[in-house]
Amino acid sequence: WPFYAPLILQINRLKKEKDAVILAHNYQSPQIYHGVADIVGDSLQLAIEATKVKQSIIVQCGVHFMAETSKLLNPKKTVLIPDSRAGCSLASSITPEDVIAMRAQYPGVPVITYVNTSAAVKAVTDVCCTSSNAADIVNGVAGDTVIMIPDQYLARNTAKKTQKKVITWAGSCEVHETFTAADIAELRHAYPTAKIIAHPECPPEVIDAVDFAGSTAAMIDYVKTQKPPRVVMVTECSMSDNVASEATGVDFLRGCNICPHMKRINLENVLWSLHTMTEEVTVADELLEPARAAVQRMIDFSK
Ligand code: 13P
Ligand code: SF4
Repeated sequence: WPFYAPLILQINRLKKEKDAVILAHNYQSPQIYHGVADIVGDSLQLAIEATKVKQSIIVQCGVHFMAETSKLLNPKKTVLIPDSRAGCSLASSITPEDVIAMRAQYPGVPVITYVNTSAAVKAVTDVCCTSSNAADIVNGVAGDTVIMIPDQYLARNTAKKTQKKVITWAGSCEVHETFTAADIAELRHAYPTAKIIAHPECPPEVIDAVDFAGSTAAMIDYVKTQKPPRVVMVTECSMSDNVASEATGVDFLRGCNICPHMKRINLENVLWSLHTMTEEVTVADELLEPARAAVQRMIDFSK
């Protein structure tokens, strides 16, 4: 903290001077999450909060698709991302042309798109979803078959919660796909009294083996409300660090992976971003309305 304090102070001062708000995802490092963020949350919470922002500038501490979502919902505001190279293996796994080809292959089948996609992909889909509302949206759209892209694991984990046929795409999260059922068995052996909780971007055999699965916000909620004496959060490593200070009495055991994209954002480039008003996130005019509509339909579903 003594090392971070000067940067945190400067960011918080500049934020006020420039009329900026900082939205940070739950996977951001604690110095961002606790030090400078005004709003923290999972992808759904950040999208909903982005619709309520009063400030003229949004600094998105997260990955690029999250900043694009904020821009879609606030086309007149300036949206900054401290490092535009902060991508996502899911977002880069699918193009609009891929979606159009799937539509042609399955005419009339609704396309549900995870928010972890580009605005261009959102623009050719019917409704977005996040890990916290995926099952509700699959159940809420018309018909007995849906296309759910691009995360094959989220789609398969969601399919188990519905009666519908779910057509998948071959994308996956590079952070969560590497967890295995054997890892969970090892954790159980090493920490027999610990609760093991995981993100639904993990493969289904991992989800089957854990005590609870949910979005990052749902996992935080689980820890805060259930207060397990010992817990392993099978997800990005900053989650345990961020929630630890708010869940005293819980022993956090390590069983996590780092997301290199999320970790591109740091205090230095947040400060630089506010100083220089870079890097500005833009969305092509022709994509704005269709992509925004897909995100807004998701938000409306979640009300
Ligand atoms: P949620 O915060 O919506 O659970 O998403 C996790 C994630 O991987 C975001 O990149
Ligand atoms: Fe993408 Fe996975 Fe990183 Fe989330 S954790 S930003 S899904 S690569």
